[in-house]
Amino acid sequence: MTQKIAIIGYPLKHTISPAFQQAALDHYGLDVEYEVWEADPIHLAAAIGELRYPQNIGANVTIPYKEEVLNFIDEVDELADDIGAVNTIVKEDNVLVGRNTDAPGFLRALQEDGKFDPHGSTGVIIGAGGAARAVCHALVSAGCSELTLVNRSRERAEELCEALRDSVATKGLGTRIAVAAWGAPEALAALSNSKLIVNCTSMGMKHGGQEKLSPLTSGQIPSEALVFDLVYSPAQTPLLKAASAAGARTLGGLPMLVYQGAAAFEMWTGKSAPLEVMFEAARDALA
Ligand SMILES: NC(=O)c1ccc[n+]([C@@H]2O[C@H](COP(=O)([O-])OP(=O)(O)OC[C@H]3O[C@@H](n4cnc5c(N)ncnc54)[C@H](OP(=O)(O)O)[C@@H]3O)[C@@H](O)[C@H]2O)c1
Repeated sequence: MTQKIAIIGYPLKHTISPAFQQAALDHYGLDVEYEVWEADPIHLAAAIGELRYPQNIGANVTIPYKEEVLNFIDEVDELADDIGAVNTIVKEDNVLVGRNTDAPGFLRALQEDGKFDPHGSTGVIIGAGGAARAVCHALVSAGCSELTLVNRSRERAEELCEALRDSVATKGLGTRIAVAAWGAPEALAALSNSKLIVNCTSMGMKHGGQEKLSPLTSGQIPSEALVFDLVYSPAQTPLLKAASAAGARTLGGLPMLVYQGAAAFEMWTGKSAPLEVMFEAARDALA
């Protein structure tokens, strides 16, 4: 019986995960198909329920469900529980276990591709959804000294801030975390002092109806910063164009996407992820 892995989200027109995951599965000649299960909010529970059929071995979870999916699975591993978001589901002995590969994927891309050491650095994180949770968790764990959270809905940023402060206190870490209102003087001050700016919103994403939007103008970006846009399609997002115009270094979302996918692939298959094959298929899919 052909086994299945799904990506569950809404909308899913933008996703290139099927291209590089299928390439990795085919590389090993596995009889597994990676499918797109676009599920509107009413059908999320049913989509997760379908994972319980014998042929299905796991899933990726993407916008906007990384937090909500916690309500429908059986177990959550320590990292995903700590982050409060799941982007990977692995079926283990018929139990749906939630995991998070966004956090290690982000950190690997930041360090290897962005050549950025987060230890002791200051950062501004834009967004407060599932991806922002993973990014903040990774930066706090890596010893970032100060993080400012900026989100359209301030309440969601406050909730994330609270969760991060609890985690910092429990683990004896040293990161200072603050919330600043979008466009407010304190947000602009934090940006001007920031060595790292990460966009964790879907602004700028192709097929999302937000293709032309950038969360920042070039005048708000300091030239010494690294600007990391989690959006991977298009490769040159409006934010990355603004960052280049400001003289800042830039990093797009593609390396993180492949690294988080590679970690998920290893969880589902127990095989070492063929990174080169995955990068090539991902780039082809974006071309
Ligand atoms: N490269 C990668 O590997 C990778 C991994 C994970 C995610 N991502 C990308 O990261 C983005 C966020 O993913 P997610 O899972 O965190 O999604 P999510 O949980 O749905 O959160 C979306 C975030 O974007 C904000 N937002 C959306 N539209 C906005 C707008 N027009 N103006 C201002 N803020 C807006 C939301 O603000 P509110 O809270 O106010 O609604 C929220 O903070 C997506 O584009 C996703 O593709 C990339």
